Amino acid sequence: ENGLLVFDTSLLQKQANLPARFLWPHEDLVYTQDELKETPIDLKGFLNGDEKATILAVSQIRAACVNHGFFQVTNHGVDIHVIRAAHDEMDAFFKLPVSRKVSAKRKPGSVWGYSGAHADRYSSKLPWKETFSFGYDYVNGPELDLVNYFKSVLGKDFEETGYVFQKYCEAVKILSLAIFELLAISLGLDGSYYRKYFEDGCSIMRCNNYPPCNQAGLTLGTGPHCDPNSLTILHQDQVGGLEVFANNKWQVIRPFPEAFVVNIGDTFMALSNGRYKSCLHRAVVNKERARRSLVFFVSPKEDKVVRPPQNLLETRKYPDFTWSELQEFTQNHYRADATTLQTFIDKFL
Ligand code: SIN
Ligand code: FE2
Repeated sequence: ENGLLVFDTSLLQKQANLPARFLWPHEDLVYTQDELKETPIDLKGFLNGDEKATILAVSQIRAACVNHGFFQVTNHGVDIHVIRAAHDEMDAFFKLPVSRKVSAKRKPGSVWGYSGAHADRYSSKLPWKETFSFGYDYVNGPELDLVNYFKSVLGKDFEETGYVFQKYCEAVKILSLAIFELLAISLGLDGSYYRKYFEDGCSIMRCNNYPPCNQAGLTLGTGPHCDPNSLTILHQDQVGGLEVFANNKWQVIRPFPEAFVVNIGDTFMALSNGRYKSCLHRAVVNKERARRSLVFFVSPKEDKVVRPPQNLLETRKYPDFTWSELQEFTQNHYRADATTLQTFIDKFL
């Protein structure tokens, strides 16, 4: 089919059998209760210029990124009210009937809008979720006027939505640049190295809704994948469902109300010449409760060459590429593929 399919999961849920397109293979469904037990990294001292606190944060980030590329941050400078407001807007949107959500339906080839499942590319292994996404450029902000967009597409109940998301993105962008500074220091580079590299970067903001599923054990909200972008900054509600494949097993990333989950993507793995890992992760669903997450994906400017700094280049792990090349590749290939970056490199570079 051409064009995105939209599934009404509230109807699907009532069916005795989960439609075959939502069934995932056994090996992807391995259940876990193990938890990735790592203390969230407190950014307060670093953000206030405290040297001792910075040294600690840097070593915690280095350890996490060498091992699996996932860590949580607290006292990150993003106002909790801004986070809550973004969740409220997301909740209001996802609570609309499908008939209204589709007025914001994403068009094929665009990142902007509502999508029921990524059914344009695959006929099986559909994720049990719905999403709303938009692009946010580090220099120019959102590519459309967010405030007008929500108002015109969804009506006057959504007059505030654009402002709220705009504020959220501005704050998370600032946080991302702070994290790039810590990442640079942790790799022995000048603190401003990645901050400068990503100053003119771009991001995609994605709101995820995972409805409850009475056959939760047979499907996945987001299948196992590595993020192709550079850095992902995620805020999840308290339901839980995000898991990372680390130390050879699936491990739960426990939600903390005031923390962001941060992870390294393939492009940053390449920018660190493989020192830092981009790790397989997934989101499981459950029978009782809807789960929501706000995900901010940071990438370099489209045509910027992805190449590690000289100091990290003893043995070059990856050839040069640009984010637009990798992005195009991931859009045309099955993303739930642990080896996206390697496949891309083998095939195209
Ligand atoms: C993702 O990895 O794309 C989403 C994960 C989540 O919703 O927690
Ligand atoms: Fe992801």
